[in-house]
Amino acid sequence: MERETDRARRALATCLERIYGDNAGAVFARADDLLDRAVAGRAADLQALDRCRSADAGWAARSGETVYAFYVGQFAGTLAGVVDRLDYLQSLGIRWLHPLPLLKARPGESDGGFAVADYREVEPRLGDLAALERLAAELRQRDMGLILDIVCNHTAREHDWAERARAGDPHYRAYYHVVDGADVAGWDAALVDVFPDTAPGNFTYDAAMADWVWTTFYPYQWDLNYANPAVFLEMLDVLLFHANRGVQGFRLDSAPFLWKRAGTTCRNQPEAYAIVAAFRAALDIAAPSVVLLTEAIESPEDVTPFFGEGDTKGSDLAYNNGVMTALWGALADQDAMIARTMIAAAAERPDHAAWLNYVRCHDDLIWNALAGHASPADLQRWSDFYGGDGFSGGQAFQTVPGGVPSTNGMTAALVGLGRPDVDQGEALARLKLLYATIHALDGWPMIYMGDEVALGNDVTYRNDLARCHEGRWLQRPAMDWSRASATEAPEGQMRDAIRIYGAAARALNALGVAGRAVPLALDCAAVLGFVRDDGRRFLCLANLSAEAQTVRCPRGWDETGSDVLTNRVIPAGPVDLAPFEVLWRLADQ
Ligand code: GLC
Repeated sequence: MERETDRARRALATCLERIYGDNAGAVFARADDLLDRAVAGRAADLQALDRCRSADAGWAARSGETVYAFYVGQFAGTLAGVVDRLDYLQSLGIRWLHPLPLLKARPGESDGGFAVADYREVEPRLGDLAALERLAAELRQRDMGLILDIVCNHTAREHDWAERARAGDPHYRAYYHVVDGADVAGWDAALVDVFPDTAPGNFTYDAAMADWVWTTFYPYQWDLNYANPAVFLEMLDVLLFHANRGVQGFRLDSAPFLWKRAGTTCRNQPEAYAIVAAFRAALDIAAPSVVLLTEAIESPEDVTPFFGEGDTKGSDLAYNNGVMTALWGALADQDAMIARTMIAAAAERPDHAAWLNYVRCHDDLIWNALAGHASPADLQRWSDFYGGDGFSGGQAFQTVPGGVPSTNGMTAALVGLGRPDVDQGEALARLKLLYATIHALDGWPMIYMGDEVALGNDVTYRNDLARCHEGRWLQRPAMDWSRASATEAPEGQMRDAIRIYGAAARALNALGVAGRAVPLALDCAAVLGFVRDDGRRFLCLANLSAEAQTVRCPRGWDETGSDVLTNRVIPAGPVDLAPFEVLWRLADQ
């Protein structure tokens, strides 16, 4: 434990040097004070959890820790309501809850809570800090954990820091990126708009500031200036505040944008990686059991440095956006090629880190994030397909000139459930295929709220003046609890399938399956195959096509065997796969 703290202190010093250069010593001293205070205030049960996880190095890199992502309001009304639903979540095999932002948001429009007005208060309509602590404690009792969304790249314009800046306080003005009007066009030329239709440009003129403020997302979301060490220290203090209240993980929102550098796209700068690694090192000192999940929806080469560089650890987890997007593309094409490419790219992660494997989330499906690995024609084809050309009930979302539109829609809608002209058996089989596949990959599987009961799109946002401009509300429906207990297809079948995949993924650990998924070149283009070979050998095959397929397996996999998911016997020789069938196979020991 002692030696680990020394290592973490060295790592923190290294990261701060990368970020703050000559000023790093002073920043370290101030961070040290915050950490001392946090260590002194850490409750005994949280310290016990720290010791337990520290003694089990690499626990976070083990597969099968299932996460459930949801909006508190849509799922259960309030935080207290979430406690009432824990039996349900546990029955699905969920180990981690990731509620989307629940800290106090600005009034009115808040980008779904991603415009935080107070990091130390809960959004009043969802509960209060005591309710958050109660939920965290209840989860601990059940051997589960809470991952809190920390919107660390920007605050709401209504946050106290911004209010003070607007009132003319130079200390707080320096918390933000304030740009002279003459320089705006120069910066903007190198930047890529995130919401080109609904929030064009990256700067917003603020009359009280008498200048332009950097606003990567909506005009009311003000980017923080991490070049100012006070900002880093404030955010660290926020993390420590919640860690000591029992939060066991943080999702670091919009991490690629944390550092700005003239002449670049201001995404994925080396300092952004170092900031995340500095948070990791600081938590290793004061709350080592807490995990970090970085949200970086970028090419895998730009995401993996968030896991850390050299022996400096960074994030424990990151969204496996590349594989997620590729699985959708592969399903549209009924061709495994792009999924193979992205699984191979994802294998370039350090040992200590794990991917968060997912099928859908609350945001749009961003095809452009595959630009380095697929041709523009591929991206356009997939975008068209899921925007309405194919079996999908998805909708196109805004994009920059020269890019292809992203796609909105719930998983169930994107696979074609609910479309009268689409075979519903096939649609459900596609939904199962996606979830069976992400559970077979190395990492933590994430279930997006409602997918476990095949919940469809929510079109009601179109009639709501506050939300109608934002297509992402399509995939943020209220949970339909009548589906949670239904036994019929598709919801009943999907719920059972999710339970089976989760239990099977955890069982793989016990059976000694470890290591990265490595894609196979098979003799059948429609079948995705990958092995995990570091421990007990494991093979996953997924037939992406609506036709039965026969595939010859690599040497060592051609004996008689059985499917882990269904126990069906697999005869020796080439394997027959039904349309959209996924098969998990273990090698004999
Ligand atoms: C992240 C969130 C997204 C939000 C943005 C700005 O990408 O996932 O929903 O709009 O950050 O906070």
